[in-house]
Amino acid sequence: MIATGLIKFYLPGNTFQVGSKKSRFLDRMLLKRMLMSVMKNSPGLYILLCLLIMACSKKNSPANGTPPAVIVPPIVVAADTSLYKMVPFPMGAAVAINLVKNNAKYSGIVTKEFNSITAENAMKFSGLHPAENTFFWTDADYLVAYAQTNNKRLHGHTLNWYQSMPTWVTNFSGDSTAWEKMLKTHIQTVVAHFKGKVAAWDVVNEYFNDNGTVRNSLWVQKLGEDYIARCFQYANQADPDVLLFYNDYGHEYSTAKRTAITNMIASFKTRGIPIHGIGLQFHLSVGQPDANISAAIASAAATGLQVHISELDIRLNANKAQTFPFTTTMASQQAAKYEHVVKAYKSILAAQQYGITTWNVTDADSWIPNWQGAPDYPLPFDANYQRKEAYRGIVRGAK
Ligand code: XIL
Repeated sequence: MIATGLIKFYLPGNTFQVGSKKSRFLDRMLLKRMLMSVMKNSPGLYILLCLLIMACSKKNSPANGTPPAVIVPPIVVAADTSLYKMVPFPMGAAVAINLVKNNAKYSGIVTKEFNSITAENAMKFSGLHPAENTFFWTDADYLVAYAQTNNKRLHGHTLNWYQSMPTWVTNFSGDSTAWEKMLKTHIQTVVAHFKGKVAAWDVVNEYFNDNGTVRNSLWVQKLGEDYIARCFQYANQADPDVLLFYNDYGHEYSTAKRTAITNMIASFKTRGIPIHGIGLQFHLSVGQPDANISAAIASAAATGLQVHISELDIRLNANKAQTFPFTTTMASQQAAKYEHVVKAYKSILAAQQYGITTWNVTDADSWIPNWQGAPDYPLPFDANYQRKEAYRGIVRGAK
């Protein structure tokens, strides 16, 4: 039986939830009594009922011995609370535009629970610049209007990345001067379009490999390793007021990578290259030790820049099992990890706390199952748009 945890039976003097031990015991007692009386009064009907019960129990019994998916009950939080009001820094979510537009439950959560938003895909190169002389603003502008109407901060993601390049860019056949012009045009057109509308930009995303060397991206091949500094300069020229971030993953598990990042930031400062913030994506696994998470945050804070936990999610299915029910144990382990992230983040200077952003909103919308090719439950809201234990973990961490 699947327990929703929401359905309750009321019998005189008794309240019990479907699927609870108590309810299963009472179910069996009632059934037994009912069958006894049918057997006495109508043996034919009795046989029919027995056959029916056998058929039903077969259908409900798990195939290949795996337990049925447990749907962990949502947590109870006062209806009028908002996540962002319970944490002392901006609390954000990456959002899918089509869901903000078309799914009232989804947009309801975003409006109520978060005060910062990032476009999950709509402001990437391929989202905004599908052909050499065509910019597509409609979706991103929708988000700008949504953010303004609902008083949300908008975080820009991302001006330059080795992924999400439209084919006209990957097929681009100009020399290095033409590539430079194309890069500069993209950055400056986009930054100028959103001037005064976004608080910050992830200027370059994922420039480094995990071992601390520079990724051999198409940009590096065409323009050399120092193109990254020019990206920051171009953005700064187009909008001197917007904050500029370097964003990457892996700070928690690779000291080589975080050293490379902090060295780059130090050299930017020496050279006068504008940079204001560092984004730690934090696509975490629940097994990631707390100490690594703390060390990553401390290392980012030591740069003196704004620190953004920019793409937080905490996955559970390390072995990529294809059948993977979410259990209450997992729910509390995940909540404890969320709690630690928030605690460690809160320990840095308040002035450096740009905020924490989760990468999408609910388990139904997360990119993780697709990315890892296996089910998972990485976010603070479940697939039914209910708050999970992880939500409470965030609130606990903020206390
Ligand atoms: C992911 C989106 O979530 C997916 O929908 C898309 O198909 C691929 O990109 N690091 C980043 C994000 O900086 O932009 C990525 O977002 C996830 C990893």
